[in-house]
Amino acid sequence: MKSKRVLVVGSGGRCHAIVDTLARSPQVEKIYCAPGNAGIARQAECVNIAVGDIEALAAFAKEQKIDLTVVGPEAALAVGITDRFQQEGLRIFGPTKAAAQIESSKEFAKRLMAKYEIPTAGYEAFEEFEPAWEYVKGRALPAVIKYDGLAAGKGVVVAESYEEAEEALKDMLLDESFGKGRVVVEDFLDGPEFSFMCVVSGEKVYPLAMAQDHKRAYDGDKGPNTGGMGAYSPVPFVTEEVREFALERIMKPTAKAMVAEGVPFVGVLYGGLILTTDGPKVIEFNARFGDPETEVVLPRLESDIYNLFDAAIDGRDCATEWSQEAMLGVVLASKGYPGSYGKGAEIKGSESVDATIYHMGTAEREGKLVTAGGRVMMVVGRGADLAEAREMAHRAIDQIECEALFHRRDIGHKVLN
Ligand code: AMP
Ligand code: GLY
Repeated sequence: MKSKRVLVVGSGGRCHAIVDTLARSPQVEKIYCAPGNAGIARQAECVNIAVGDIEALAAFAKEQKIDLTVVGPEAALAVGITDRFQQEGLRIFGPTKAAAQIESSKEFAKRLMAKYEIPTAGYEAFEEFEPAWEYVKGRALPAVIKYDGLAAGKGVVVAESYEEAEEALKDMLLDESFGKGRVVVEDFLDGPEFSFMCVVSGEKVYPLAMAQDHKRAYDGDKGPNTGGMGAYSPVPFVTEEVREFALERIMKPTAKAMVAEGVPFVGVLYGGLILTTDGPKVIEFNARFGDPETEVVLPRLESDIYNLFDAAIDGRDCATEWSQEAMLGVVLASKGYPGSYGKGAEIKGSESVDATIYHMGTAEREGKLVTAGGRVMMVVGRGADLAEAREMAHRAIDQIECEALFHRRDIGHKVLN
């Protein structure tokens, strides 16, 4: 019976995909999204509350008798939305502020992995420039230098030269504008990356389908790091054996470790993994659904997502069913992204394409759909295999008109010719 009232917190493509999947649930009657975007507004009632305004969100959830709140972005988790909702007796799917440290503090994550022998790159942490620079100078290149703290994707430098490494360390440890600095210097890991998201409830782990993201802005994995320019699912090089290893040796032990440390995790644990010659290792953990991975993973979920969220909150078992279909999505981004970019350009033709469109940063102005963010929309094709899915996505993109957008033409290049 359709009776459940749900609030989704966030506004990007990830939240559009969550809303779209909740809309398929036989239990969900009404979906609100705060603040949402122009695409989400077609499937949910958008409420103008910012993701960081947790008091207003809690008040809204109470007033509207929301049965379940789902959190998209880390920004809301980092300010403790889950803790606040729990205090008010409101049901919410997402980790507490303490558990979200697995994403917000690189050092917390690194220490946890070292203590519980979860495979990852070796590392040293530094607070001062001189010892950090001495350490990096004495090691082989490339040097992997990470700013410890949420830095919206700007916090990682993979330096190919010592000059670049020195500059990165100076930026992070000497430049006040970056905030109070602390860095982690890691061993460089080599191999293809993949994203393994699992719904976690204490020690229980419910794996989702695999995906691969494309972090660089331009074709051939060139240009600056971005939030992600495209993704696909499944990932052919993640064999059953690799998946088993990642689940049994990485994701499950991490969930257990969080319980043992007194910070049980409830929410989506995102493993950013790299397949080295010694097997998969962790590059990073996130405490939330990935974006754009969610937009290619959730459309493959055939079972009821409300049930999954609900079971995770209560620690109940919950089986999931997945479609064999492949999904491949390409991000249309504003020219200039991830640097500065304009807004307000009209987008035509996206309504009538034969592919799924998840809005990332769009708005409606005087009845027209316009750009309103760095990443603007994700065009997701589907098919019997990834090649078919890619064809559908590309055909759809050709029908979308907007002079202010660019996209990568090679999403899936690591597994397609
Ligand atoms: P992160 O924000 O930690 O996911 O890092 C961003 C990107 O930097 C990753 O997607 C990798 O491509 C790269 N990277 C991070 N850590 C390492 C590492 N230890 N070895 C090789 N590449 C890395
Ligand atoms: N796509 C990478 C992330 O969500 O962090």
